[in-house]
Amino acid sequence: MARRPRVAVVGSANIDLTTFADRFPKPGETIFGQRFDLGFGGKGANQAVAARLCGADVFMVARVGSDLFGPATVENFQKLGIDTSHVKQVEGLSSGVAPIFVEPDGQNRILVVKGANDALNPADVDAAADMLKAADCIVLQFEIPLATVYYTIAFARKHEIRCILNPAPGQPVDMRELTGLDYFVPNESEAETITGIAVRNIDDAKRCAAKLVGDGIRRVIITLGSKGSLLAGRDLSQHVPAFPLKAIDSTGAGDAFIGSFAVFLAEGLPELEAVRRANLYAGLSTTGVGTQKSFYDRQRFDAQWAGRSGQ
Ligand code: RIB
Repeated sequence: MARRPRVAVVGSANIDLTTFADRFPKPGETIFGQRFDLGFGGKGANQAVAARLCGADVFMVARVGSDLFGPATVENFQKLGIDTSHVKQVEGLSSGVAPIFVEPDGQNRILVVKGANDALNPADVDAAADMLKAADCIVLQFEIPLATVYYTIAFARKHEIRCILNPAPGQPVDMRELTGLDYFVPNESEAETITGIAVRNIDDAKRCAAKLVGDGIRRVIITLGSKGSLLAGRDLSQHVPAFPLKAIDSTGAGDAFIGSFAVFLAEGLPELEAVRRANLYAGLSTTGVGTQKSFYDRQRFDAQWAGRSGQ
């Protein structure tokens, strides 16, 4: 049997406090929400969990706080079989937390307090070097210091390890640090923040991706929510439609896309096929509430794929 893909995530772990409400309160106003959910989240952790549920061996490099959320986060990783030898607790800092508001159409608004995630340093990457060198793929996001993200990209480049960067939450980037990056995967708003090009439709996404490719990125995937995603590089610019599904909570769908895409690619699937499958994996996650708890395991996903891949 072929060995399982090995995915390393250098990134964040948060606790998600999700409130479901008919609308967002106005300034000075108090309104009632309909439902509350407390769950494990954080873009890095979510991507690690998606990769694990898709069947990879997963290694997490992260920092958690010295509060009750810290040990609970580590325990959650361990229960799922994710390697936590490089998840460290930081004294005197809170864990990352994310108050999230979800409206009836499934659209979300997220506020992140980074806490201990902001203490993940290049030295932590060095400490995990042996483990990272054995990975098929390193996955990064922007909820840790940018210096650590850039350092890890350089590490991946030096050791010829495939690297996927999800620039979320969107913030200005030094594009020189991303030269030669294998995969850059923003959503519409992150792509706009970074390039200055508003992404309202597929043609905008194509223009935006072309700019990023021109800046030296090998492959760009812009995730477009219910419109699917766009895969672009020097030799292609292709829209990959989404599968029709009824979304109730889109939180974490981008993370589901990235974690599953890393695995499909490491399994040796052609890129376009990996994107198509990741579109479905992400779409399925929007049909359940919460982030990690809405992600499908491989068996359930494969059953859905078998029924829908001809669509
Ligand atoms: O992408 C969704 C995630 O963003 C949530 O889990 C929240 O923690 C924030 O990091």
